[in-house]
Amino acid sequence: MDNYVLITGASSGIGRATAIRLSKTYPLVLGGRDEKRLEETRTMCENTDKHLLWHYDLATVEGIAENLSAFLKENSVSVSDFVHSAGMAPLAPLRMTTSETMRQIMDVNFFSAVEILKLLTSKKVNGKSLACVVLISSIQSRIGAKGQSIYCASKAAMEGFMRAMAVELAPSIKLNVIRPGGIQTPMGDLLQRNQELLEKPADDGYLLGLGETEDIAAMTEFLLSENAKWITGQIFTVDGGRCAH
Ligand SMILES: NC(=O)c1ccc[n+]([C@@H]2O[C@H](COP(=O)([O-])OP(=O)(O)OC[C@H]3O[C@@H](n4cnc5c(N)ncnc54)[C@H](OP(=O)(O)O)[C@@H]3O)[C@@H](O)[C@H]2O)c1
Repeated sequence: MDNYVLITGASSGIGRATAIRLSKTYPLVLGGRDEKRLEETRTMCENTDKHLLWHYDLATVEGIAENLSAFLKENSVSVSDFVHSAGMAPLAPLRMTTSETMRQIMDVNFFSAVEILKLLTSKKVNGKSLACVVLISSIQSRIGAKGQSIYCASKAAMEGFMRAMAVELAPSIKLNVIRPGGIQTPMGDLLQRNQELLEKPADDGYLLGLGETEDIAAMTEFLLSENAKWITGQIFTVDGGRCAH
């Protein structure tokens, strides 16, 4: 069986840039809902014919284990590295956020990663292949933002989960979190429209300006590499200096 890197959110933004970067070195399972955009990512990758597409809506958390284990079995694939980049960040004050939306944000951003990790640590499904996990959080778990309370909570949950799992799964599996600042992607553009940010210049606080998807992809590549073999249970802020002051 070949060992693959599973990337959720591979159809856009940070996940796509990560896929393109990692495709030079690793065979990939590209996760997302939109078949056409996932296929576009695959064509942008190197070694195109090596990569597999996993279409799944992560909001349906209860079906992840069955669907992903069947996918891995059908394709004779095991997963050595898992990058969770899928996420949603609808803007609304809490009073206008329905319980359904709250649950959807928590499911896509957080519980889907929990379910995937649980499955990938099952010896029956994935042997002892899993070695490294990178979860994409956000600086907003630390600094907060108007209209994004549940989004911030979902990222904070991810960070607490990562620390506990790094202890539980050591030494065989390493887990780390990356906290991006503002990155130019479809979601990043939406976040920039946040009223609070509109009142300030767009680059306010970003000592190095807004970031690019490549900045996060490069950090992810490092954390998956041998160079990071002694790093686990950590949160890396990659934000152009936004949280430096
Ligand atoms: N951009 C920023 O400024 C920024 C800052 C901090 C943190 N982040 C984090 O970085 C990660 C990537 O964000 P991005 O900026 O690259 O956003 P993006 O370009 O909007 O991409 C979001 C990705 O998540 C996937 N996704 C959303 N809902 C899904 C669902 N229900 N099931 C499966 N996949 C789903 C999308 O897939 P579909 O094609 O299926 O829609 C897409 O691939 C997110 O976790 C985000 O919170 C972003």
